[in-house]
Amino acid sequence: MKVIKTIQGLRRELQALWQKGERIGFVPTMGYFHQGHVSLMARSVRENDITVVSLFVNPVQFGPTEDLSRYPRDLRRDCAMAKAAGVAVIFIPSVKEMYPQELSTWVSVNALSEGLCGASRPGHFKGVATVVAKLLNIVQPDTMYLGAKDAQQAMVIKKMVCDLNFPARVVVCPTVRERDGLAMSSRNMYLKPDERIAAKALSGALFAAKKDILSGERNALKIISKIKKLILEETGASIEYVSCVSATDLKPVRRIKADVLIALAVRFPSARLIDNQLVILR
Ligand code: PAF
Repeated sequence: MKVIKTIQGLRRELQALWQKGERIGFVPTMGYFHQGHVSLMARSVRENDITVVSLFVNPVQFGPTEDLSRYPRDLRRDCAMAKAAGVAVIFIPSVKEMYPQELSTWVSVNALSEGLCGASRPGHFKGVATVVAKLLNIVQPDTMYLGAKDAQQAMVIKKMVCDLNFPARVVVCPTVRERDGLAMSSRNMYLKPDERIAAKALSGALFAAKKDILSGERNALKIISKIKKLILEETGASIEYVSCVSATDLKPVRRIKADVLIALAVRFPSARLIDNQLVILR
């Protein structure tokens, strides 16, 4: 596996592959890999001639009071995991390489970025969309792989790819979970042992809600208050949001008549966690 730190170096490496029309799979990441990342890499390796992974903790998607400076990092372990997954190239640019001067050009995906996490993290999705647009221009992949745990992010990026005619396919892969149901996330390492045990309540409440909807419950407010009750009973965490939104435009729904995403963000003293369930009505 090649470790490349500059845009020019990566372009030099990919040039021949672009010319030969090799299929390039791309997994954008912020590192500190877990099995969720590995599943994206493995799928890309299966479906493409070569896989490029980017590892860049993107400062412009963090708010001023967020965890940029303490975001977990372990380059050596990450490289070993990517290599074992069959990744051909890992691109690890510095902040200076990605943002050599102050940006004047930003990508904002309106509407989809506004609710859910966008409400409490203003500017977050603008930072995500901007860096992913830059990475797509740098890597020029055929297919980009994203995780369903970040459902709103995946929808924002898909919309950007469509609106700006990036010639890449976006594949959203299932959330990978711990044995007790907790969605894998690099930020889970912040959790204290008691918080980690309690955190299984998030997925438990979401799975129960999905079951209720599939059994015929159509009142979104009932679903939301049951999720909130379960989480408050089983964790000492504060709930940032629990929402039931349309799976196509992320607008809140009251009566469930079509596919919905049930999404939540919960703040434990040591970490903010998100999770979701897509409910496809049969
Ligand atoms: O999901 C992430 O790790 C990041 O938001 C992404 C897509 C790599 C952009 O920095």
